[in-house]
Amino acid sequence: MTLASKRVLLIVSGGIAAYKALELVRLLRKSGCGVTCVLTEGGAHFVTPLSLQALSEDRVYTEIFSLTDESEMGHIQLSRAADLVVVAPASADILAKMAVGLASDLATTLLLATDKAVLVAPAMNVRMWQHPATVANMATLASRGVTVVGPDEGTMACNEYGFGRLAEPPAILAAIAALLIGPRPLAGRHALVTSGPTHEPIDPVRYIANRSSGRQGHAIAVALQALGASVTLVSGPVSLPDPAGVRTIHVETAAEMLAVCTAALPADIAVFAAAVADWRTEAAAQKLKKMPGMDTLSLSFVQNPDILATISQGQPRPQLVVGFAAETQDVIAHATEKRRRKGCDWIVANDVGAGADIMGGLENEVHLVTEQGVESWPRLPKDAVATRLAARMAAVFAS
Ligand code: CTP
Repeated sequence: MTLASKRVLLIVSGGIAAYKALELVRLLRKSGCGVTCVLTEGGAHFVTPLSLQALSEDRVYTEIFSLTDESEMGHIQLSRAADLVVVAPASADILAKMAVGLASDLATTLLLATDKAVLVAPAMNVRMWQHPATVANMATLASRGVTVVGPDEGTMACNEYGFGRLAEPPAILAAIAALLIGPRPLAGRHALVTSGPTHEPIDPVRYIANRSSGRQGHAIAVALQALGASVTLVSGPVSLPDPAGVRTIHVETAAEMLAVCTAALPADIAVFAAAVADWRTEAAAQKLKKMPGMDTLSLSFVQNPDILATISQGQPRPQLVVGFAAETQDVIAHATEKRRRKGCDWIVANDVGAGADIMGGLENEVHLVTEQGVESWPRLPKDAVATRLAARMAAVFAS
């Protein structure tokens, strides 16, 4: 299957990332996909109609009230001729207009009139992305079936760091291909994913935590959703936004995580990427105070339930149970033993030793331990590890 017989209507809205739309058009044309571009007034401040026209080898539409455009190809026909409408970059402004249903220019009129699938690739300042208005707009769009790719994390043109960068053009192309030539191999499957650390309270103001950022688990939830799964993400305290279109439930402690996971069953796939605290202490009702002459403090701990082992060995058992093994030495040997002991199907093992910069970092270097043996993957960004892992999981359900 290829994109050769397909056509994308690409709406380029305003923002510094609009220049990346040119690369997207180039990639689409290279895959044989037809591209018709619509440039918003804001987009035209960053790229010219001429560059889009040269790369798309098609005329570029910019103005709704052009009589020639209307007689040659009205706005309804423009989207009818396409298999998919893509908005890249999608500014906070156009996303808000889509959520409300405004038709104030050619782009928004097309988006309101289309009966085709819509993919958006947001790009904006991190505060705009995290603003409750944008979060609500994204939830509205997701509930209407709009697919989202990105935004990525990184440094933005405004020099701030966070989520807001336009997804890279190859990732947008992959999302387009997934929608146009599918198949969405995990459609109809439910995936449960845990992510982030747990916080175990010591007293009302203190807790025990670990360095997990939740990036890997969240990326896995997004990757499984991209393959069509409906995903429940059970997240410990993290500073990441809830992924669009993923049912995200927030918990603090291991006990809460277990209760929520158990309630979310049945699932076809369960991925336990959370760094669950192995121990908890009985939390004091009041803040622990220092007393005169008190040089040390001892806390006693009891073991937390093992969520992965409980669900692996319980009923209803998900068909594919994947655990993680964060190790600082003898990674593969420990992971192999953990797979057997916890009763899961796969273990994704990684070295989280001090020099590895994995826990809390942006990249991961994993070994996939299955019944068939061990596969060592190269060091990759965490979302690339997630995409690869999700594809492997989809293969299990395809066979
Ligand atoms: N895990 C879990 N519940 C726990 C502890 C761990 O579900 N209470 C899961 C993690 O999400 C991960 C896997 O078990 O998928 C392995 O976690 P890890 O911390 O590496 O293993 P431990 O069980 O802590 O084993 P050890 O103390 O031997 O490292």
